[in-house]
Amino acid sequence: MFLQAESDRNRIDQALHHAEPTSSASVNRWIDERVKSLPYFMHPIDSAVSRFCLFAAALLLLLHCNVDAGNSNSLMDISADGRYLACSNRDSGTVSIVDLRSHKKVFETEVGKKPEGVTFIGSGALLAVAVYGDDRVVVLDAEAGEQMGSVDVFDEPYGIVSNKSGSKLYVTLEYPGQVLEIDANTLQTIRSMSAGKFPRGIALTTDEQQLLVTEYYTSNVLGIDVATGSEVERWDAASTDNLCRQIAVHPVREKAYVPHIRSQVRAVHGAGSIFPYLTVLDTNSDKSRRRKRFPMDSFLRTLVVANPWEIALSPDGRQLYAIFSGTDDMFACDTLDDDYREFELREYIKLGHNPRAVRVSPDGTRFYIYNALDFNVVAYDTSNLEPVATIPVTGNPISDEVRRGKILFYSAQQPMVGRRWISCSSCHPDGDSDGRTWHNPEGLRATPPIFGLAWTHPLHWSADRDESQDFEHTIRGPLMQGRGLVRGRINDSLEEPNKGLSRELDALAAYTNSHKFSLSPHAKGGLSEAARRGQALFFSKETKCAECHTGPFYSDSNPATERLLHDVGTGNDDPSEIMGPAYDTPTLLGIYRSAPYLHHGRAETLHDVLTTFNTDDRHGTTSHLNAKQIDDLVEFLNALPFEDPEVDAKASGLVKVDR
Ligand code: HEC
Ligand code: HEC
Repeated sequence: MFLQAESDRNRIDQALHHAEPTSSASVNRWIDERVKSLPYFMHPIDSAVSRFCLFAAALLLLLHCNVDAGNSNSLMDISADGRYLACSNRDSGTVSIVDLRSHKKVFETEVGKKPEGVTFIGSGALLAVAVYGDDRVVVLDAEAGEQMGSVDVFDEPYGIVSNKSGSKLYVTLEYPGQVLEIDANTLQTIRSMSAGKFPRGIALTTDEQQLLVTEYYTSNVLGIDVATGSEVERWDAASTDNLCRQIAVHPVREKAYVPHIRSQVRAVHGAGSIFPYLTVLDTNSDKSRRRKRFPMDSFLRTLVVANPWEIALSPDGRQLYAIFSGTDDMFACDTLDDDYREFELREYIKLGHNPRAVRVSPDGTRFYIYNALDFNVVAYDTSNLEPVATIPVTGNPISDEVRRGKILFYSAQQPMVGRRWISCSSCHPDGDSDGRTWHNPEGLRATPPIFGLAWTHPLHWSADRDESQDFEHTIRGPLMQGRGLVRGRINDSLEEPNKGLSRELDALAAYTNSHKFSLSPHAKGGLSEAARRGQALFFSKETKCAECHTGPFYSDSNPATERLLHDVGTGNDDPSEIMGPAYDTPTLLGIYRSAPYLHHGRAETLHDVLTTFNTDDRHGTTSHLNAKQIDDLVEFLNALPFEDPEVDAKASGLVKVDR
């Protein structure tokens, strides 16, 4: 009997999905039509009873939709009453509050470095922000535009959601991989749960029993039981899946949606390296953790999209909006009640520069797009998909030149890219590494983070480029196949400078060189005892580490001196290598989070660099160290940087390049 009722409910749900009443006055007529469309065995014996049941179901569906808003992470959120929109402005270090009745920004409040996720708390006007760069969660009042309080967290908070009642906040800490449960009233951390590696996306399932968390560099999804705080489910991705920042749960069906890319490291050409995907998970436990991956570039035969950043579902779950930060466009889709096709394209829409967030209003009539490099939010009507308002949310906090360079860096369109799948940011997102080792024509090459680049020229593991303008070769080469930013010929990388040939190329270089290091979380309380012992070893004559890893950036590679390469015994075991065996000394700042290591990316851990990959003491001297000393050395490496290297660099008169 119960099973029958379940399946009837599903059928009614499906019938409800077809069309929904727009006002309660039309509900009766609508129900009559729905009832007619039900299979004969479900036709009402007693039409009054069935009318009541359907009415209740419709009401539940509508109510259900409103309370669910805000339980999937995003860089933008809308209050449950639809009155306020909040967005985090990563470059400005602020959160803006927009009044959605007037479509005007009413407040812009400073919150700290690199704010990412925002969420309204429960159904009120308070909201919480994950301030990624300052390791803090800040609570703001949207009505007063004021900061109400904050809580320090260990490191790199990214995604944040609140439960429906507004009593709790859940936030992903990308490093070292945790979810925190925070009491939303007292801002005390209640517990910390381990949550894989580099978790970013987070959503609370509709029944609030499980947290779904996505790993940034793998796109694996973990299900954490809210009651016990332990991992109870897992949806593993393919090894190529990458850069997954978000997860959105369907309000009615047991589905979750995960936007991400695929990095095909063996194909270093424009048509085969990077692809945009949307993965759909069955969160219903009967369906054995099924995940299906849908290529987002297969809808419109010739039109490729790149770098999915976020998706949003309408409150009734019938529409899905996916935005692409590389091609500056989006798909508005209809979700299908079909486990195999899942959704179909309704409309393709061009957006502004570098769209990073999308949200739908609780009444389903509007959706909003955050164009990160236009510093605005654009409101669209969901019925005709036309824009209805453009709302400036912050000023340009970076120079005009850096903004132009950043637009190019994020662009997967001409003149940067010929075939649209890829942009510089697909492999260097916000300056980080993509965690991959690419099979480049010159051999295996791990993607390095590009922080502090202005001080550590020349560039590339083989120091075969001496200025960021040389990346015009990457733009024009087989990987990107773009027209390029310079008219006519360019110089070979190590010959005459390419700087000064094009305003746009200089702007790209200015942005590329602008990334700054952030301090290591391993040194929050200063250097630990072990790290101090490691420091002494590092600077000792026996290990010789500081002979090459020298100065404030722990590298003898700097723009003012001659190009300097060292053979440290790492260049002989890759048959595809054509440039080794000597390499440029990499900076060691920030390596706590940039595995895998060495140019070939074969050293999984820092331990491996010092042991397995240094058996003959050609890379410093480590064979005389015992296990504890190696641990101490690793502890020190993990703590870098423990102070701002630029202060020291300026004091010692080092030079840097600006563009
Ligand atoms: C397919 C992934 C991919 C794309 C796309 C890509 N890069 Fe890279 N990038 C890499 C890899 C891998 C390396 C290391 C290569 C080497 O050292 O030989 C690298 C190295 C660099 C470096 C040198 C960093 C250092 O510390 O030496 C800079 C600067 C850089 N890339 C900028 C760019 C720019 C600008 C673009 C766009 C025009 C771009 N990259 C596109 C993967 C990529
Ligand atoms: C002769 C110069 C030299 C000395 C001495 C030296 N290094 Fe290096 N180091 C390099 C070079 C060159 C590389 C890059 C090698 C490669 O990628 O194959 C490197 C790479 C590394 C890396 C990997 C960085 C990354 O981002 O992948 C670490 C960690 C490191 N060194 C630590 C040390 C430590 C610790 C010592 C002392 C025991 C040391 N090095 C001694 C030149 C040196």
